[in-house]
Parts: sequence; C-alpha cells; structure tokens
Amino acid sequence: MQPLEIKKNVHWVGAVDYGSRDFHGYSLSPQGTTYNAYVVLDEKKVLFDTVKHGFSEVLLERLRTIVNPEDIDYIVVNHVELDHAGALPQLIKLCKPEAVFCSPLGQKAIEGHFKNWRDWPLKTVKTGDSISIGKRTIRFVETRMLHWPDSMFSYIPEDKLLFSNDAFGQNIASSERFTDALAREALDQAMTEYYYNIVLPYSQQVLKTLAQVAELGLEIDMIAPDHGLIFRGEDEVRYALERYREFAEQKPGKRAVIVYDSMWHSTEKMAYAIAEGLNAEGVPSRIMDMKRNHHSAVMTELARCGLVVAGSPTHNNGILPYMAAMLTYMKGLRPQNRLGAAFGSFGWSGECVKILTDHLAGMGFELPEEGLKIKHVPDEEALAQCMERGKALARALKAKCGE
Ligand code: FEO
Repeated sequence: MQPLEIKKNVHWVGAVDYGSRDFHGYSLSPQGTTYNAYVVLDEKKVLFDTVKHGFSEVLLERLRTIVNPEDIDYIVVNHVELDHAGALPQLIKLCKPEAVFCSPLGQKAIEGHFKNWRDWPLKTVKTGDSISIGKRTIRFVETRMLHWPDSMFSYIPEDKLLFSNDAFGQNIASSERFTDALAREALDQAMTEYYYNIVLPYSQQVLKTLAQVAELGLEIDMIAPDHGLIFRGEDEVRYALERYREFAEQKPGKRAVIVYDSMWHSTEKMAYAIAEGLNAEGVPSRIMDMKRNHHSAVMTELARCGLVVAGSPTHNNGILPYMAAMLTYMKGLRPQNRLGAAFGSFGWSGECVKILTDHLAGMGFELPEEGLKIKHVPDEEALAQCMERGKALARALKAKCGE
C-alpha cells in the first residue's frame, strides 16, 4: 500500500472502497468510492481526516511507509461523519497526538459519536484561526452545513492547498488520484451525481462558501477532497469552483425528465406522448421508468433539467410506491427553480394526479399546466391530448429559460 506525494511533503494516505454501493439511499455508480486522508510532514506532522471504520489498516500501512504513526503531532478532523472519522479512535490511540483540531460544532459531533472523547486532546478552531506547523500554516474555514454543521476546510497558503472534505468530492474508486487523469465528461458526471445526491440541499451554503473563499483571498492551486480525485493546477481548480457555482445556482436547463411508473402501460403511453410533444417544441427529454431506474439516477438527470413531469396510475387510492419513494427522495434534496407537471391513468377513483401535483407543489415547483388524468387505456384522442400537454409544457419551460 503506497502513499502518494501530492505536493512536496504532502501525502495521500487514504483508502479505495471498491465495494461501496449505497450512501444513505444514494446508489453510487458501480465504481464505489474513496476515503481520502492526507498527511503533511513539517516541523509538526499533521494527519487530515481518517477513513471509514474497517479501512484503518489500509491508512496505517500507507502512513507507516512515510512516518511512524507515533510521530504524528496533530490530527485535523474536518468532518465527523463516520466515512472520515470512523478510524479516528484507533488513530488517536496509536498516534497519541498533542492535539486534535475540529470546529466547535465538530467537538459536539465528536462528543455524540465517540465514548472516549474526554481522553482526547481536542482543540476547537473557528473561521480565521490558524496554526503554524513549521514552514507552513494551517488556516481553518468553517463550512457549516456543507454538508453537516461541523464541516470545515483546512487551507495551507504556502502550498496553495485546500483540504475541502466532502465538498468537491466524487464517488470514484480507482488507482487514479488526480482529476486530469479522467476524461472531462466522466469527471463531470461523477461530480454531478455526487452534488445532486448529497450537496444539493445546501446550495445556499455553497454560494456563501464560494463568496467566503473569494473574500478571504485564498489562492488555491490544488483542491484535495475527501472523496474521489484531487484537482491540481489552476485550470482544474477553476473548473471545480465554476462547476460548483453552476450546480448551486440551479439555473433551469431547457430539458425535461419524465419519471413514471405504470401498471398496464397506460401511464407509460402517456409518458411517451408527452415526450413527443416536448420534442416537437424543441425541448429534449429523458423518460425514466422507476421500475428500471434508481431515484439517484433521476437526481443526476435533474441537474440539466428545468422540468419534471411525474406520472403514476392510481393504485389503492394512491400512487405507485416507486414514485412515492422517488418524490420523497427528491423533496429531501430540495431542488429549486423547476417546473413540474403530473399525469396518470386511472380506473375508478383517480387520486393519482392530485397526489403527484401535491408532491410537486410541496417542493416549490411552478405548475404551469393542470395535471392530466386519463381513464383506462389512452386512445388516440387521449394521446393527442398528452402530446398537446407536452407542447404547452415545453413553451412554459422555454419562457422560464428566457426564450
Ligand atoms: Fe459527510 Fe463523506 O461524509
């Protein structure tokens, strides 16, 4: 297990988890993930974050090739979630550091997660605090709710290096360590999936943090996140910052995602007819059947869509459960600036469209058109109605996008 020197005397000592598939209901692309930890060797030797419980031996094996763990002076805990702090008790026991730095809310989280915390040399640091470790300084920037209350960045001005914790992460498991090793499209997909399934609800905090980074005048030529690949060089760093601004601004894209579930293909036929109408008015769409697509994939698709068209037949006076699960997941991630529309077939009671409409309205989506409900199997006339509805939605979306 080799470490990797990412800057002079700064080493990656993390672990690659090829087996991880689920993160709180977010289904990771099949690549798994990484838990990045870093060590800086100066007059003081500092470990930044650890790894998930179960991967501590991997971290230690890498660490031991460059430094005796007992020579680690400080551990910085940028975030207490257990994919980064799971190995913290073992590392503290082994390294016996002089100090463990965390944010004030990090201390609260440590107290709530670990029983031995009273024995640990915890020291809290706030935005603007810095410590000298020899030739280098570590400056701390709290990034509350990006994405937990305790989260913070650590910045080393002498190296122009930002340890960004979860921010700018991607769930990628591979032997590559730098973003410039990956085709831009693949990296962008991984960043989008991660942002839209984890960071999206905290987009206001992202914008505030980007402003704070500019205000503090942090010169950055490397962003080292705790998941995935490291951005090295000004171009890669600029790309990461710009992409986060775009994600956080959530400007509506001229594109639709049509999500549905169907019992006997009637709602499905409606979905395809609506897509035709959208297309006829120049709005591309992707149709996603919830029996075949995970709700995480819908969120990733949503990144480029300003319109969500949601369909379900009426089932037991409600909607089909995959649609209910997807809408619940989507609501928690709080997408902004979207249009919504509901559709579905029914046999007798017909509650589906009202329920779907309530879900969409509950997310704050604008609803430019009434929901569309068709009894039993849609005939040609009904499909023509669906197509017209698709056209009307396309016109509304184009108006929202400023066309
Ligand atoms: Fe919030 Fe990667 O943990």
